[in-house]
Amino acid sequence: MNTPTTPRHVAIIMDGNGRWAAKRRLPRAMGHREGGEAVRRAVKACEVLGIECLTLYAFSSENWKRGEEEVGDLMKLMRRFIEANLDDMVAQGVKLKLIGDHTAFEPDIVAKLDHALERTRGGTRTLAVALNYGSQQEIARAAAKAAAAAGEVTVESIEANLDTADLPPLDLLIRTSGEVRLSNFLLWQAAYAEMVFMDVLWPDFEEKHLREALDEFARRERRYGGR
Ligand code: IPE
Ligand code: IPE
Ligand code: MG
Repeated sequence: MNTPTTPRHVAIIMDGNGRWAAKRRLPRAMGHREGGEAVRRAVKACEVLGIECLTLYAFSSENWKRGEEEVGDLMKLMRRFIEANLDDMVAQGVKLKLIGDHTAFEPDIVAKLDHALERTRGGTRTLAVALNYGSQQEIARAAAKAAAAAGEVTVESIEANLDTADLPPLDLLIRTSGEVRLSNFLLWQAAYAEMVFMDVLWPDFEEKHLREALDEFARRERRYGGR
């Protein structure tokens, strides 16, 4: 059936920061810091490769289990990341979007994120970041909203209430670090997405890895249940 060569919407489960650090006998926080650099590269690579929408899994609703120290490190990095990258994002025409419930973070982070949403409003390509995101929770919320608004729960009414409702359909889902699971990410949206699992650890992710995944995507035949 339809096999466009460039996906409109790519999502990435950015995994492997901890193992990257462990391999170098560094603290896990260093892996997360380098992971931030990989985010910069990935956003840039999407511009070069003409990808309209990139969705990144940055913090899952289950990642709170990691304990105070690691969660604290991740929050510090998030603050720094926004401060260091907001101007570039605006200059690159990136429009930030958040999925999940970012209001659970510390008030200053919520304020920084809201400010970033406001400043990037005019952007023409989307960077959606999943923060305190869990797909099962998202689907449950969407179903509840659909039921309350229309009294009828259908595929369409759920879809219209997902956090991703205004994003293009998901074409390609990538997970780094060699794990082959979705870890509560975009379960609904992945219904007919192509999946590519790569061995590279997230802090080592470069434009060439995205190109590899896009090459693999271009070789796939999408059938959507047809023939
Ligand atoms: C992904 O890297 C980053 C987040 C989940 C925040 P990990 O921290 O999960 O790295 P590994 O899986 O332990 O190597
Ligand atoms: C998924 O990775 C979450 C993010 C990448 C933000 P995890 O490392 O948390 O997933 P599991 O625990 O290995 O399934
Ligand atoms: Mg992991």
